[in-house]
Order: sequence, then C-alpha cells, then structure tokens
Amino acid sequence: MYQTIQVTPMTQRVGAEIFGVDLTQSLSAQTYDEIRRALTEYQVIFFRDQKLDHDSHKRFGRGFGELIIHPGVPSIEGHPDIVAIHADAQSKYIAGENWHSDLTCNEEPPMGSILYLHTVPEVGGDTLFSSMYAAYDALSDKMKAYLEGMTAEHDGNHVYQKIFKDLDKRYPCSDHPIVRTHPVSGRKALFVNASYTTHINGVSDDESDAILAYLYQHCANPNFQVRFRWKPHSLAFWDNRCLQHLAVWDYFPQVRSGFRVTIKGEKPV
Ligand code: SIN
Repeated sequence: MYQTIQVTPMTQRVGAEIFGVDLTQSLSAQTYDEIRRALTEYQVIFFRDQKLDHDSHKRFGRGFGELIIHPGVPSIEGHPDIVAIHADAQSKYIAGENWHSDLTCNEEPPMGSILYLHTVPEVGGDTLFSSMYAAYDALSDKMKAYLEGMTAEHDGNHVYQKIFKDLDKRYPCSDHPIVRTHPVSGRKALFVNASYTTHINGVSDDESDAILAYLYQHCANPNFQVRFRWKPHSLAFWDNRCLQHLAVWDYFPQVRSGFRVTIKGEKPV
C-alpha cells in the first residue's frame, strides 16, 4: 500500500510512526500522497531523527496546504507562520495543557499542525492524542441523534486573554457543528473541546454545561488515545479535524522546546 514510506501503527485506532523519509529534503509527489494517506488513516503521524531548520519545516508543511498565521500566539522573528513551543524553569503555563483541537475559534479551523521539538526533557513531556472518530463512534445512537444538527460556540477570547492579559484585543469566535464530517475520509467526528468551546447553541446554560461536561469526559477515554514519547528532533503531524491533543507538563523545571506550523483548513460541515 505504501511504496516510498514505511508506516507502523501505534494503536488499533489512532497514530502511526513513519519511517524511510528525510524531511530535510524535497519530497516527491508520491511521497506527499502517501504521507497524506497515512494521515487520513491514522489521524496523527510521527517522524524521528529529522533535524529541521525553519525553511524545511515550512516546505514540508506547505506540501499539505497554505500555512496560517496564529491569531493568538506571536510568531518567531522573520517567520510569521511559525510559533515557538517552549517551556523552561521560568514558564508559568505551557501551550496545550488542556484537551483541544487547534484554533477551533477560527471560522476555518486549521486542517493540521506540525510540531517539531529539538529539545525535550529526559523523561516526561509526552503529548496525548485522542481520536474524535472513535469518540463519535462510541456514543449511543440516542446521543448521536440528539447532537445531529446542533452547533456550539468556540471562543478564543477567554483562552488568550487569560494568557496575555490584553482585555482590549479581540480574538476569533465562531460557531461550528458539534458533529463534523471529515472532508477527506467522509467519517463523522465529535468537534467540541474543553479549551475553546463555550456553549451549545439553542439550549439552556444548564443543559449545555451538562452535555459538554459529558462529552469532554467521553473524549478523554484512554481507549481512543495514542501517547507520543518525544525524543530530540521528533516531529508530530496531526489532523485537527478528527483529533484532540493535550501536552503533559510533568517535567518542570526542565526545558522542552521547538516550533510549530499550522495548515489552513476549511469551514466544518
Ligand atoms: C500544542 O497544543 O500545539 C502543543 C502540543 C505539545 O506541545 O505537545
């Protein structure tokens, strides 16, 4: 099935390691096509031993779509489409400590994100990924019927104002279907997350809070997850349309550091 890469699944439902490819070099159309297929099949894919500079990181990302500028986090100097992911002894918070899919506050949330870490703690600092296909599939038929056609608000303001204390600045806020259909696989995925989603539209606050609390707990079921153990110069490429992730901060005061590019997506349907 794959001719230019080797793909090793990590669990039954989600996650695969990809071998046999050097991301510092330009890749053939066939290799891009196979990586795209592996991402569709496994939702998050991992690469080891890739010493990427910013240009090769961006070139790899652009093979899957336009790179977007993060509306909340400042970019690194000279590269508006790269953000630093960094934690050390001075850090008061880290990026992605709660379950989320990236930037669901955007009207067109990103299709995917590619995180490259060059420095990681000796132990700890893993990232957890949870399949929202698996979460949707495991809902009862009655809950699936209830959620069908409902929308929820995803707001960036409370997320970034808490970090940057800039109450005057406005961040994106958008409504999205609670169940979305993946534009490539055609599969249904749950699309609410504890970081950005504020409420379900068209029901009382009590009902919204109770249903969201149930869905968040459901989405965090370990049976839907893969856990990635980073090594220096590893890279993770995840599909935000069918996956949530969470970065574990169990390594303070050690350093964990790298860069992320984010790939443009489409309006969820
Ligand atoms: C993120 O949410 O992009 C950060 C993930 C991580 O640092 O593992």
